[in-house]
Amino acid sequence: MEVNKFSGKLATKKTPQELIVDAYFAKDQVQTEYDNSIITIEIDKISGRPATEFTPQFARIEKQVLRLSSIRPNAPSWQNPVTSWLEAHAKFLTSLGTIWDQIEASEIIEEDGPENLDLAFRIARLKDDVHNEFTQKNPPILQIISPRNRGVISPGIIEVKDLAKINPVFGNLAFDNHEQIVFCNDKETGLKAIIGIHNTNLGPALGGTRMRVYNNEAEALRDVLRLSRGMSYKAAITGLKLGGGKAVIIGDAKTQKTDALMRKFGEFVHSLGGKYITAEDMGMETRDMDIVREVTPYVTGISESLGGAGNPSPITAYGVFMGMKAAAKYKFGTDNLAGKKVLVQGIGHVGEVIVEMATKEGAEVIISDISIERLEFVSNKYGAKIHHDLDIYDLDMDIYAPCALGATINDNTIDRIRAKVIAGAANNQLLDEIKHGRILKEKGIAYAPDFLINAGGIINVYAEIGKYGKEQIIHQTENIYNTTLDIFKLSDEKQITTYQAAFDIAQARIDARKI
Ligand SMILES: NC(=O)c1ccc[n+]([C@@H]2O[C@H](COP(=O)([O-])OP(=O)(O)OC[C@H]3O[C@@H](n4cnc5c(N)ncnc54)[C@H](O)[C@@H]3O)[C@@H](O)[C@H]2O)c1
Repeated sequence: MEVNKFSGKLATKKTPQELIVDAYFAKDQVQTEYDNSIITIEIDKISGRPATEFTPQFARIEKQVLRLSSIRPNAPSWQNPVTSWLEAHAKFLTSLGTIWDQIEASEIIEEDGPENLDLAFRIARLKDDVHNEFTQKNPPILQIISPRNRGVISPGIIEVKDLAKINPVFGNLAFDNHEQIVFCNDKETGLKAIIGIHNTNLGPALGGTRMRVYNNEAEALRDVLRLSRGMSYKAAITGLKLGGGKAVIIGDAKTQKTDALMRKFGEFVHSLGGKYITAEDMGMETRDMDIVREVTPYVTGISESLGGAGNPSPITAYGVFMGMKAAAKYKFGTDNLAGKKVLVQGIGHVGEVIVEMATKEGAEVIISDISIERLEFVSNKYGAKIHHDLDIYDLDMDIYAPCALGATINDNTIDRIRAKVIAGAANNQLLDEIKHGRILKEKGIAYAPDFLINAGGIINVYAEIGKYGKEQIIHQTENIYNTTLDIFKLSDEKQITTYQAAFDIAQARIDARKI
């Protein structure tokens, strides 16, 4: 007769073939009981453990497991020694939550011997610990926030099972009608890059290439989408015949960047036929752009010897200074900064030049930076006052110029800021453009939108494409002064934030397809 070799009971349809053996019984000892050691239980596919009353339907799957117990499972004196034996022989188990089925079980039995049979036993004793009373009462909620006005687009609960339905590209919150997204892959050089082309209504999409390590591909995609969209608005508000684009190369710029990789990236850029024009961004240097230039003309930020426009930072600083003066005119009635206390946070490539210009105009400049050497160097050179503490927000100042990091205007700082004007080079200074923009307006702080006043760099690289010289670059950068004043005016007329005013003008230009 066929029996389950472990239970010794008669095999049934559920008994795996591997466990069935032939058995011979003496006449008066014939086995009559059917094998009940294989049972079907519901497993939570997320926790990998038996479902409980809290396990939602979508997470339940049926699994057949081997139930190992003594012949009197409810009698502790019979069952406990069996339990101890099983536990003592559970050496190989590394992951207690592993979902398994009878095939895996039989393989284990074949290969590892009977001491490993406690798998089912263990699984059966550990209940689903992912779904419980708390998670049932407090299900995770996802709110979809509109990138435009921060309103909740789809209030309510999205069940975990629906996450699988989220479309990672077209459904990405930062997607915002991108025209094209190009995923570049090259096995030989290890290149993995994403080029985002947001909008080309006004001209070719121009934007730098950033190389950095990302936690995952979704993060890289979000970064490129967010940045390329920002470039559309920066170009439009600045009055350039350019669209918005950006690229990210996934990898460590210090250890993974090679000439071959940059050349391959250049080939991908070239394949777009000029729809996207690249430039430098984080993790890139002029030399890298020179390599890209070997394979495509669709690159800016190359060496001056190759026809490039050179280092953009002084021009960026000049534009920021123009925006600062316009904001001062709006707030103080004069754009002369003499006697004004100006705090420059971050005195790098851009910050230092702002210190120079503000000092020349007679402002009292205070500087803050994480680098002591930079502080001493810039202080010695321009006579600026060093503020050693990085926490600068309570300081007495007229103008705050963020030139280091983004998001410095946030819930923790906004009520402490004593400046009347904020104008700096850093990108994305407002943690929440809508909320913090509104609070600044309510507090009467004149905020010059970052993407408007730090556009000198893009004007500089645009000169390489538009084939115009330094004079025109300076002229166009100077115009940031007028545009900033226009933005303050519009913000007052329409009772909207300066960020929104700049954004609306840029959007209108993009929609009208003309500058
Ligand atoms: N360089 C350009 O043409 C350009 C164009 C547009 C926007 N920006 C933005 O302007 C900002 C400055 O650019 P950059 O080229 O001068 O960069 P940079 O790296 O040369 O300088 C940044 C400086 O900030 C300092 N810093 C870093 N963390 C700080 C902190 N917590 N507090 C105070 N200082 C800190 C650094 O030590 C460094 O001196 C960046 O946010 C950049 O994205 C630059």
